[in-house]
Amino acid sequence: MKKYIIGITGASGSVLAKRMLSYLSELSVELHIIITETGIQVFEYETGISWDSFIKTLSLGTASINIYNNNDMFASVASGSFSTDGMIIAPCSMATVAKIATGTGGNLLCRAADVCLKERTRLVISPRETPLHSIHLKNLLTLSECGAMILPPVPMFYAKLDNFDDMIDGIVGRILKSAGIENNLYTRWDNGKDKK
Ligand SMILES: Cc1cc2nc3c(=O)[nH]c(=O)nc-3n(C[C@H](O)[C@H](O)[C@H](O)COP(=O)(O)O)c2cc1C
Repeated sequence: MKKYIIGITGASGSVLAKRMLSYLSELSVELHIIITETGIQVFEYETGISWDSFIKTLSLGTASINIYNNNDMFASVASGSFSTDGMIIAPCSMATVAKIATGTGGNLLCRAADVCLKERTRLVISPRETPLHSIHLKNLLTLSECGAMILPPVPMFYAKLDNFDDMIDGIVGRILKSAGIENNLYTRWDNGKDKK
């Protein structure tokens, strides 16, 4: 069974994490989920759903669900000896981008990302902020140079989507594809003919 670490931070865009986790929970995969303290607050504010009740819905699916305390540095995902098929951080705040880029860490989510970089495991980061200043851009460049895939949550305007859910599916589909998880969530370009 493939193993993925999913990181969620306090950047806007909790709906991306919600959709991504709901989709993954229906697959035969092992999910290792880390959410920051602010990540929980923003998730509850933006979705109107409590994090604890959301997690309960995930356990109804086929995936194996493991939730970690972000302060638990003794967790398996904090070690390079725990190999995974990749890590996705979505949405990723500029604070977490900075901590990973500078190696200052300080929590389990950043440590797990650091492990991915040192072990050359696939790391997909979906940073959310606008506008971006030079420090944000430099940190993102550092992460890209270290091998992370930087995939901002940008809608696929060319797909001419007319509803919010399809737009979110498009972004989540691209994030999952970048992490090596094939899916049919997004519209692939085909000479201008829309195709899902
Ligand atoms: C409603 C809300 C939306 C936020 N949106 C963003 C955002 O889009 N990008 C960002 O970098 N920070 C955003 N922040 C600020 C982060 O939550 C803050 O920097 C926090 O320290 C991030 O911590 P974390 O990375 O540990 O979750 C937002 C905060 C709130 C309350």
